[in-house]
Amino acid sequence: MSYDRITVSPIAGALGAEIGGVDISRPIDNATFAEIRRAWVANLVIFFRGQTLDDEALTAFGRRFAPLFRHPNLVTEGPYPDIVRIRRMPGDQRIVGEDWHTDTTCMREPPCGAVLYAVDVPPYGGDTLFANQYLAYETLSGGMKERLSNLTAVHSDITVAGPQAGRNKHRSTKVREDADWRETVAEHPVVRTHPESGRKALFVNRSYTQRFSGMTAEESRPLLDFLWEHATRPEFTCRFRWEKGSVTVWDNRCTMHIAVNDVWEFPRIMHRVQMSGDRPV
Ligand code: SIN
Repeated sequence: MSYDRITVSPIAGALGAEIGGVDISRPIDNATFAEIRRAWVANLVIFFRGQTLDDEALTAFGRRFAPLFRHPNLVTEGPYPDIVRIRRMPGDQRIVGEDWHTDTTCMREPPCGAVLYAVDVPPYGGDTLFANQYLAYETLSGGMKERLSNLTAVHSDITVAGPQAGRNKHRSTKVREDADWRETVAEHPVVRTHPESGRKALFVNRSYTQRFSGMTAEESRPLLDFLWEHATRPEFTCRFRWEKGSVTVWDNRCTMHIAVNDVWEFPRIMHRVQMSGDRPV
């Protein structure tokens, strides 16, 4: 795949590429953005270094991919309610995204992606890992693919938000846990077809997938455990080392990610927007 306006340098065999030659804090012409989008769909997650994004520039860049998605549980006050401020402060023991997950799949139409911008990062640690869910699907046996082909799964935010989840203890970034909070539930196919690439991807994750439709959680668990283990095999992943000013854009339709919870004494401050997506099919 050739690019004229940007450079695209893969960082791992499975997914992930660093993009160069563009300042995303400034308006981007359509031809350059088309190459960025092509690189995003082809590499599943793309990275930029040395950027300076104020709130206006971050939201404007996210909007180039799709209209912005407002998170139901991570609430931001102020003039940019679509930006979630993900803060880890010294002493925090828990963080946002500490389990392998695809974002916000409790929604009927989960976000198609996210832009994450590093405002302040620790001198070491705090990396983010991504996993290629096309590869996770493609490396299953024919028998398993057949078994999954007609399954749907129930996704819910019951373990990540609300008063019963208890996520706010020991964590600076708070989720809604007020008495008015209500569970959000959606059913999705276990294997989805990406609307742009046409490829099939495994679509179950530890944070949101509760069970297969028509089965109990206990009945579902052995197969879900197998799929989650399989989906995050090291050879399906890449690992991104953040610097201040780094930006990551992941395709939430065919990846999972995890924030590594390995840094206690330094702040880590990230600003994130999510982009609206389609109903998985
Ligand atoms: C997330 O799960 O969206 C946060 C990832 C990170 O902070 O690295």
